[in-house]
Amino acid sequence: MTDVLIAPSILAADFARLGEEVRAVDAAGADWIHLDVMDGHFVPNISFGPAVVKALRAHSAKCFDVHLMIEPVDPYLDAFAGAGADRIIVHLEATRHLDRTLQAIAGLGKKAGVSLNPATPACMVAHVLDRVDLVLAMTVNPGFGGQRFLPSQLAKIRELRRMIGDRPIRIEVDGGITPETAPAVIEAGASVLVAGSAVFGAADYAAAIAALRPVTP
Ligand code: DX5
Ligand code: ZN
Repeated sequence: MTDVLIAPSILAADFARLGEEVRAVDAAGADWIHLDVMDGHFVPNISFGPAVVKALRAHSAKCFDVHLMIEPVDPYLDAFAGAGADRIIVHLEATRHLDRTLQAIAGLGKKAGVSLNPATPACMVAHVLDRVDLVLAMTVNPGFGGQRFLPSQLAKIRELRRMIGDRPIRIEVDGGITPETAPAVIEAGASVLVAGSAVFGAADYAAAIAALRPVTP
């Protein structure tokens, strides 16, 4: 089985101490740092933009997994690349020409990921798989942390797994991931778990991250 990576989402961190929070999850064993960018248009919430990503860059050398929930997205790719994103994830629902958007990310020298809302079928990414190293299956409707995991997404994760086959593409899940829901998404084929409240809502970040990892026999 592929190793499972944990990507704490700073959306649930203390925004008044973001640099410190990033350093804390880095030290606590986070594999990647997940940064949720929201525009109040594609999703009904506003979070932060490239200036915050740039300011945080100095606080961790780990992969900055930047999840853009913004529409339009193309005009901002350059800014997030310049801010220090390692991977830029775009929603296929937020760009009319997804293939072009993914090419633009590659052109900026960044890894590209594609994300699907819960109502979007897996087949929508079939013809762009060669342009991404990650498919993000939203396990809640994007916009807010702390929502309940949608079990309807397990079938989609399995279908994505089948579609991906032996390509070097990870499936990431985002929303409602806890020690209770993690085993089912891993079993279905996810290998990157984003967790906001489950990590930043805990007193001990290292224990919270460890609790999301599969139990090794
Ligand atoms: C939702 C965001 C998630 C969110 C996850 O739109 O993309 O990354 O922060 O939060 P939890 O883990 O609290 O569901
Ligand atoms: Zn996210």
